[in-house]
Amino acid sequence: MIDTQIKKLIEAEKKRQKNVINLIASENYVSKDVLGALGSILTDKYGEGYPGRRYYRGTKVVDEVESLAQERALQLFGLADKSPSSEARGNSISSNWSVNVQPLSGSPANFAVYAALVPQGEKIMGMELTHGGHLTHGQKVSMTGKFWNSILYTVSKENELIDYEAVKKLAIAEKPNIIVAGFTAYAHIVDFKKFREIADASGALLMVDMSHFAGLVAGKVYPSPFEYADIVTTTTHKTLRGPRSAMIFTKIDERELNKKIDKVIIPGLQGGPHFNCIAAVAVAMKEANTPAFRKYALQVVKNAKAMADELAKLGWRVVEGGTESHLLRIDTWRDGKGIGGREAADKLEAQGIIVNENTIPFDTRKPMDPSGLRLGSAPETTRGKKEKDFRAIARKIDKVLRSN
Ligand SMILES: Cc1ncc(COP(=O)(O)O)c(C=O)c1O
Repeated sequence: MIDTQIKKLIEAEKKRQKNVINLIASENYVSKDVLGALGSILTDKYGEGYPGRRYYRGTKVVDEVESLAQERALQLFGLADKSPSSEARGNSISSNWSVNVQPLSGSPANFAVYAALVPQGEKIMGMELTHGGHLTHGQKVSMTGKFWNSILYTVSKENELIDYEAVKKLAIAEKPNIIVAGFTAYAHIVDFKKFREIADASGALLMVDMSHFAGLVAGKVYPSPFEYADIVTTTTHKTLRGPRSAMIFTKIDERELNKKIDKVIIPGLQGGPHFNCIAAVAVAMKEANTPAFRKYALQVVKNAKAMADELAKLGWRVVEGGTESHLLRIDTWRDGKGIGGREAADKLEAQGIIVNENTIPFDTRKPMDPSGLRLGSAPETTRGKKEKDFRAIARKIDKVLRSN
């Protein structure tokens, strides 16, 4: 690299990454092949439109790249079938689901779904941020909470888990156009069947945002939402271990939701697809469709559980009482007897453990300095760590947080 300033910074970041224990629940380490595709000359090509239907010339190769990414994404989540009717509908592969691999990241993907399916000012319903929802699930500071009238559900005060009856009551009372299931900081398995029943009872579409647990679904250690959802969005860079990108899966039926969503992505919201990134997604989808990845996903969950158990043993209150996924939250504030999440994260960072401060349900503190921490097991599992290593990490966290 000729640009020595940027080269130096990349080297510095490489060194930083190497020297820390990374417990950021939304991060991971991609393979050399994913990096190779990302850094390829595919970045040079413009191609607004979709395979076979572009506004640009010279797109024969990138058409193949995008079709391959779609095909692999559908295959990975068990959505490829043999019905000739779906082929006739223009899918690159037979499926009753379509997938758009062009969203530039998770937030624009979610925005595109609402823009396509919910008239401005009407209702979207998602989980409250402090309870584990994402900004784009209708929080007031997000455009999704400004352009649409958002209804936010919370978890139960008793056990910090989703209270499906309460969600159902709220949905029936509010009649949202779309309900979002899927979270940023919720550690337990989501009952998609119950969410389907809630959506049906209230006349809403069901969107699952599986950004966080997509890799666990791919690895078959977390239930698949596809049996119940109308739309599934996901980022590709968290447990799925791909580049920073996103996908929108849509059920193909007479409602033609997929066509509406495709039209919002381009020409409605974005311009040229990032083909280098789409190629990297294709690589990651292939990597995730292997026995080695399934083993990885299982280890991710085992490691998160080991860390949660050890922290609980050491006296820390694990939010929701534990985890069934790759992440967990701990309460560091302990009703004023402990320290705030920001101070806790700073202390850990000083000792080489990277986490993020996080709100906990019914948090009395602000999101910038909340009451807890969110810890994830995906990146360090990629680096080969097992349960005993995560128990040791938990002990180190305990020691650092209790030190003065
Ligand atoms: C559940 C969920 N949805 C969407 C997003 C947004 O993804 P991005 O940061 O790629 O915009 C995130 C990111 O953390 C997320 O956790």
